[in-house]
Amino acid sequence: MSRNFLSMDDVTPDELESLLSLSEEVKRSPADYADRLRGRAIAMVFEKPSTRTRVSFEVGIASLGAHPLALSSAELQLGRGETIEDTGRVLSRYVDAVVLRTFGQERLEGLARTATVPIVNALSDFEHPCQCLADLLTIKEHRGKLEGLIMAYVGDGNNVAHSLLLGGAKAGMSVRVATPPGYEPIPQVVGRAQGLADQSGSGAQILVTNDPAEAFDGADVLYTDVWASMGQEQEANERTLVFQGYRLDQAAVDRADDEVIVLHCLPAHRGQEITDEVIDGPHSVVWDQAENRLHTQKALLLWLFDQP
Ligand code: CP
Ligand code: NVA
Repeated sequence: MSRNFLSMDDVTPDELESLLSLSEEVKRSPADYADRLRGRAIAMVFEKPSTRTRVSFEVGIASLGAHPLALSSAELQLGRGETIEDTGRVLSRYVDAVVLRTFGQERLEGLARTATVPIVNALSDFEHPCQCLADLLTIKEHRGKLEGLIMAYVGDGNNVAHSLLLGGAKAGMSVRVATPPGYEPIPQVVGRAQGLADQSGSGAQILVTNDPAEAFDGADVLYTDVWASMGQEQEANERTLVFQGYRLDQAAVDRADDEVIVLHCLPAHRGQEITDEVIDGPHSVVWDQAENRLHTQKALLLWLFDQP
């Protein structure tokens, strides 16, 4: 059975630590990995738009010596109703892994059920685990460690929030999530994150609140994401009203630790969930974070193929 990466819960805390160490190594010495996946082909299927994920995977795959194929569902028979399961059966006969950006998590699970090659979640409505790997690497680089840090996420309890809850807890971080009432992360993910935090033995706490100030106080990491995700465009106007106050502005930075770093998975809606002053300010590490997508995804592919 091939390994998949559909969720941050598909790696153990030890595997997560190894993946981040390998990412650092790949980032430091890319030439050492230039031939590691020679002869392989990797398909990337996008059912939603993408800048960072698409480009970093394509460049990363090529820089490991493998052949990337970036495919939008509109140009595949998938866009005309061929099932994801049949697509998985067929693509497995041609390529060595499939990276999928999609809507429901069940589409990734359906693909993983029928494919005989590793499947990677490049974002679903439920999780964005590739993003989380880059986030954790960025935090480690800028704060020197993960365990014991406090990360405060403000905004929608969405895919990015779910992956941060699971990934942060696995790394022994306290994760606080502040959302408007009714937009909290799903309770099963919060419960699982609390269980992981308890197991980590680091004293990490998971907090879900409707009060952003409670999340920001003394935080080492501030994080936000768009108020309306891909697929929620028709809710955008209503969300703009509901989410006022759930943003990263200077007042949020002032409440946090003096050395706080600010992350955003991007794309940012400047003036909504984050102000120009904060995203362009001295605490922001968002461009390093975007770069780290490349290094962490290369490490992920090496790990999936057992070629570290
Ligand atoms: N952060 C992220 O996944 O960006 P893209 O949507 O541009 O891939
Ligand atoms: N939550 C956002 C993340 C984009 C990278 C979305 O799903 O659109």
